Amino acid sequence: MRILVGISGGIAAYKAITLVRRLRDAGCEVQVVLTESAAQFVTPLSLQAVSGAPVRSSLFDAAAEAGMDHIALARWADQVIIAPASADVLARMANGMANDLLTTLVLATSAPVSVAPAMNRQMWAHPAVQVNIATLKARGVRVIGPASGAQACGELGAGRMEEPEAIASALLAPTSSVNWQGKRVVITAGGTREPIDPVRFIANRSSGKMGFALAASAQAAGAAVTLICGPNALPTPSGVTRIEVETALEMQAAVMGVAQMDVFIGAAAVADYRVAEPATHKIKKIIDADTLTLTLVKNPDIIRTVALRQPKPFVVGFAAETEQLNHYAHQKRVAKGMDMICANWVGDGLAFDQPDNALTVLWAGGEHRLMRAEKFTLAVQLVELINQVMKQS
Ligand code: C5P
Repeated sequence: MRILVGISGGIAAYKAITLVRRLRDAGCEVQVVLTESAAQFVTPLSLQAVSGAPVRSSLFDAAAEAGMDHIALARWADQVIIAPASADVLARMANGMANDLLTTLVLATSAPVSVAPAMNRQMWAHPAVQVNIATLKARGVRVIGPASGAQACGELGAGRMEEPEAIASALLAPTSSVNWQGKRVVITAGGTREPIDPVRFIANRSSGKMGFALAASAQAAGAAVTLICGPNALPTPSGVTRIEVETALEMQAAVMGVAQMDVFIGAAAVADYRVAEPATHKIKKIIDADTLTLTLVKNPDIIRTVALRQPKPFVVGFAAETEQLNHYAHQKRVAKGMDMICANWVGDGLAFDQPDNALTVLWAGGEHRLMRAEKFTLAVQLVELINQVMKQS
């Protein structure tokens, strides 16, 4: 995919370097265009190094125009992303101005245009900015973020540029053929941590990647997505509500706390057991004892409780198996009251903490195999399959 990355002035401009790198890592060709003020925050030379192409900023650069003129550049792009998009560039775009190379390209391209706004929270909340955003959205411009959190100006609120990884995955997300507008989807992801004492815990190898990919894919289908996840460093897919938990009990409480859901996907590797009584102080090594006994108690089965809810959401679970995949997965689906189960083999470079996966999906009266692929591709296929089976049932 050919992506034109436009960078406007703002402290977040340095993050555009990571964005370009992520896009290149994913196999994209990238050309970078800077506004005049962006060059105050990030150097053309570093962007040239990461993009592998000359960086442009002027409409009147005779040498660059002789190579690929601005109209050719606008036609070259499969997608345009402006990150960071300052209040100024948004205003100029909303008004159809063409007073620099970047805004001219935006008018001249037929490719989809996305913006990742970044500005102080007061500026973002200003009605003038919000009117411009509404105008751009109405014209089909995709708005990625902004995220909330600590800002460079020392304030806290909405206006931070979305993380480069989240912007890259939003751009690379295959467009969904599913329409889940108005649907509420709840997804659990990652592994839980069960404390032993204040410094130790029992955990597992789940990375959360499959659940995060499903959240992005359900969001791309138009659903309102709540992602309840164990500790991990994955970026939140744009537009998804993330609730972070540590233990299975906290995960269950967070799931119970969601009032209404149409689809529930349990992709989390929830610990089956927790330590009965975690120590309040660090457990000391006993010099003359070779063993230490921990008493574990069973955790609640989150997916089973969700399957008992009225009205019942469409419940999808996962099963990681090392033998008799279909047999055990089928049993698990029925025992837990799931509508659909996605079974995967553990090992062979698949499933836990791996980028790829392959799934056998079972439901009452049906079975479908999703061949080995990157988890994001699988997630899109799985959302399509869930949608089909939901319509039949
Ligand atoms: O029984 P097993 O752990 O293999 O079942 C896996 C499925 O059940 C997954 O969908 C997982 O998210 C869900 N699960 C759960 N609560 C538990 C254990 C598993 O929701 N306590």
